[in-house]
Amino acid sequence: MKKKILISRLYPEKGIRLLEKEDFQLTLWKKQRPMTQKELIDLSKTHDALLCTLTDRINPHFLEQCRHLEIISQFAVGYDNIDIPEATRLGIPVGFTPDAMSEATADIAFGLMIAVARKMFFLHKTIAKGQWGYFNPTGNLGFELKRKTLGILGLGRIGIKMAQRCKKAYDMDIIYYNRSQNRTAERLLNATYVKFEDLLLQSDILSVHCALTPETRGCINRSAFEKMKPTAVFINTARGPIHNEKDLTHAIAAKEIWGAGLDVTNPEPMQPDNPLLSMENVCVLPHVGSGTIEARDQMSVLAAINIIEFYKTGRMPHIVNPGVLAQ
Ligand code: GLV
Repeated sequence: MKKKILISRLYPEKGIRLLEKEDFQLTLWKKQRPMTQKELIDLSKTHDALLCTLTDRINPHFLEQCRHLEIISQFAVGYDNIDIPEATRLGIPVGFTPDAMSEATADIAFGLMIAVARKMFFLHKTIAKGQWGYFNPTGNLGFELKRKTLGILGLGRIGIKMAQRCKKAYDMDIIYYNRSQNRTAERLLNATYVKFEDLLLQSDILSVHCALTPETRGCINRSAFEKMKPTAVFINTARGPIHNEKDLTHAIAAKEIWGAGLDVTNPEPMQPDNPLLSMENVCVLPHVGSGTIEARDQMSVLAAINIIEFYKTGRMPHIVNPGVLAQ
């Protein structure tokens, strides 16, 4: 019997073609909207494997209903949408797609940093509203990034790429906070490990690159913003719930920090009447960190290979819960 694979939305063809070459029966969700939770559960019930992504809710209820799944292959590096302890308890291996989007996401963090320092999105909007005005020597001023201190929360694959960009372009000093010290990255970037509080106190740019976990959820909150420099730029390209959006709005309005660049919000999508969207020093993007042709192609390939290898060899090149396959 052919294995039945459910593919939760339109992923790049490169990965899908790899799956088509194998002896699988594929069900592709082709509608221009994600499945509802009920559709996802009902369809998953009749399949052996699921290829899903970061907005598909693989929560305890889903897993309870779909405990028969042999593999879940996530098209993303983050997997906070999946209840990993529960999947592990049920013996379901979960794959993910690390590194495919590191360059692309670091580009977005780097771009947002410059855009916020120079009020780019706000100025674009003023032109669209017919408010170009005149060349004002003291108006619309931003600040320069040369030799500033970049603070990285979560110096992993993506954080390193952001730090490399900032070092090369602006000769920035790099400080970072992680659960554990990353000696290789320290050597590569001449980066200094600091306590979380010192990261907040010393960063000119604070860029978030960690995973969303119970420890990081809401960790950039009012008390964190109060510690930051009034000239600091906050960048989050990781997951929205790592910062508290109300506290961020207050911090910018009260000039406790300079501004923020967000590729992730809480909730997503951000509503058009969100006060952050009308602030001068705020730039928001709709979660497009991995949104390059190259990154998305590679993510689809890695997600497909996880499924193919699992059925051919019983192993997965990129697995979140390897203990499941070791059993
Ligand atoms: C994107 O947010 C990802 O986790 O890949």
